[in-house]
Amino acid sequence: MNKLIINGGIPLSGTIRASGSKNAVLPILAGTLLADGPVIVRNVPHLHDVTTTMELLGRMGVQITIGEKMSIEVDATHLKNTFAPYELVKTMRASILVLGPLLARHGTAEVSLPGGCAIGARPVNLHLMGLEAMGADIRVEEGYIRATAKRLKGARIVMDQVSVTGTENLMMAASLAKGTSVIENAAREPEVTDLANFINAMGGKIKGIGTDTLRIEGVENLTGCDYRVLPDRIETGTYLVAAAITGGKVLVKDTDPRLLDAVLAKLEEAGAIIDIGDDWIELDMEGRKPRSVNIRTAPYPAFPTDMQAQFCALNAVASGTGSVTETVFENRFMHIQEIVRLGANIQLEGNTAIIKGVANLNGAPVMATDLRASASLILAGLVAKGETIVERIYHIDRGYDHIEEKLACLGARIRRTTD
Ligand code: UD1
Repeated sequence: MNKLIINGGIPLSGTIRASGSKNAVLPILAGTLLADGPVIVRNVPHLHDVTTTMELLGRMGVQITIGEKMSIEVDATHLKNTFAPYELVKTMRASILVLGPLLARHGTAEVSLPGGCAIGARPVNLHLMGLEAMGADIRVEEGYIRATAKRLKGARIVMDQVSVTGTENLMMAASLAKGTSVIENAAREPEVTDLANFINAMGGKIKGIGTDTLRIEGVENLTGCDYRVLPDRIETGTYLVAAAITGGKVLVKDTDPRLLDAVLAKLEEAGAIIDIGDDWIELDMEGRKPRSVNIRTAPYPAFPTDMQAQFCALNAVASGTGSVTETVFENRFMHIQEIVRLGANIQLEGNTAIIKGVANLNGAPVMATDLRASASLILAGLVAKGETIVERIYHIDRGYDHIEEKLACLGARIRRTTD
């Protein structure tokens, strides 16, 4: 099984490029199911979740051609079926994103229920409730969501809870529905905005983009387009924390600083000197140790839950005591016990981790439990004394493009083994 072996203690230094956003490219690839005609998607990151999505689309009969420079052409004009099997959906929850587009364009979809996952129950009730409001007939049987609709009808949907993929699924469905839909309490994450811009590039009519009220006028059909995926703000933030935790200086280019306000504010509070341009961010720690920060996760534009684990690692070696409160998912602290194995001092009290910074972490074998948890273990390994072995790194390959190459570019001693 693949492992990463890290010899920590080197301040990272240098320049890397941010890849395209995982959480934007997955809904956009699902959204290609809405189009009559080929769609070109650019800035596609090299990720296992992207491969899984391409396999899922391929099995439905979608034509996929890999182009040059991280582009792919996707043509879903002629589908063979509208089936998303358990064996693929269970490895990637975001597969649920095919439900809305399939139903809207083909009037039928059979998609496996994603099931539980390491970071909480993560139900899909909001997705189903919204599609039913648009007139879909939905049955959940034998572990599958079986949905049919002659043609979806526009509806006013108030989301009980802010849901990123829930908003995305309903926005895609509404784009081909008859009449106008309004989604209230919609997620405002930049990746939702990117999907909305993509749908409009295909001829959709979505208004209120970037706000919590989306107004979607359904159209008769959507056509192919050429679209560039936005940069990955979570990947960018992870490399900035890598610089901060090791006392280094790193420039991330081809990114978008406007998407990272809450994260950059916390890094400055931790003592980092941050400089930004239109499409780059430089973080300089000037060899200093970070100061502890208090974090509370919440939907965008507040601090992202997908950066919570990385800041737990940062606080573990910071001066002072910091608290990290998780409000989005009910069980997203699996990384804490692993960071403790490296010598961290962390107490869990309900949904808050109280982290007292220690002078040093010491390398040890640790196990990744989910995508962002694996990132936090790598960060901790980069600053720990001696050798840290991170097992089960298939999680990291789902969401980080060439992570060990990028870190090695910055001077980290990191390698992959397959023993
Ligand atoms: C997306 C992101 C993930 C990120 C999360 C929160 C993708 C592919 N994944 O996940 O990286 O951590 O947003 O920013 O974009 N909920 C319900 N019922 C539903 C749907 C959600 O109760 O039908 C709850 C969830 O259990 C959770 C909360 O709502 O507590 C937010 O989840 P949601 O925004 O839906 O997360 P995802 O879209 O799965």
